[in-house]
Amino acid sequence: MKKILVARKLLDENNKKILNLFDAKLNKEDKLYSTDELISLSKECDGILSFPTTIINTETVKKLPKSIKIISNYAVGFGNIDTIEASKKGIIVTNTPEVLTDATADISILLLLGASRRAYEGRLAAESESWNWSSDYLIGKQMTGKKLGILGMGRIGRAVAKRAKGFNMEIHYHNRNKLSLELEQGAIYHKNISELFNNSEFLSINCPGSKETENLINEKTIQNFPDGVVIANAARGEIIDDEAMIKAMKNGKVFALGLDVYRGEPKINQKYLKLKNLFLLPHLGSATTITRINMGDRAINNLNQLLNYKQKPADQVN
Ligand code: GLV
Repeated sequence: MKKILVARKLLDENNKKILNLFDAKLNKEDKLYSTDELISLSKECDGILSFPTTIINTETVKKLPKSIKIISNYAVGFGNIDTIEASKKGIIVTNTPEVLTDATADISILLLLGASRRAYEGRLAAESESWNWSSDYLIGKQMTGKKLGILGMGRIGRAVAKRAKGFNMEIHYHNRNKLSLELEQGAIYHKNISELFNNSEFLSINCPGSKETENLINEKTIQNFPDGVVIANAARGEIIDDEAMIKAMKNGKVFALGLDVYRGEPKINQKYLKLKNLFLLPHLGSATTITRINMGDRAINNLNQLLNYKQKPADQVN
């Protein structure tokens, strides 16, 4: 049996499957392995089942044992892995697309609603028992009928668009390429990000995290939004320049922000915590049982295809 290092805990359903197919070193205690531990535990292994918290940068890839042929990432994003260095070493990297589309799109909508309807302040007030209903108490922004910009119109962005239509929103988007009419479903394409932002009363960030998308939302680009924009980020923290965002949230350019992801998470820029117009979640995009089982299944299938069937894995990204 081929040997696999599983870098974090999997759900029991996934453990059953991986133990059937592989000699798998499970991490039942869910320990966050240091780089040195990861390298030494992967000795004599054929593959690693990695997670968004498993940082496999250039140096780590270089130090991985020669026996490693595949890193199967349990996530759709793979910014935690240096895929170019992996390719140089002949290591295949895979991800888990499709299976988390709906769960993540749901969280994008939750972030938009939580931010625009002031859910954080609402929770604090309800807990205090000292609030008083009145016609202008904790008034938020209504999504219905507004313009929604979607930054990154891949599977998740399109699933957000589908949901937003239930709110009668007008959908605008930016993507590297314009989509086919069938995939666009009436959404309006903007080649330039500044044009998209001009047309975004609400913005949902759903593009991959990469060098190209780092700090896309910055001091200068924020100025393109209509005043009082509501922004939600369910993609990667690095896409937002936090200092610029905090300034814009303080001066009202940004009415409210919803975040599920953070630069250097689980850390958060402490200045955010002084702001009330912020709705926060701890990276819950794919956190439902069915989605997590399907992600594990997909990650195990990728290992199985390469190591047991000598086929190109379905979700190879490098
Ligand atoms: C989660 O963040 C993922 O990329 O799947």
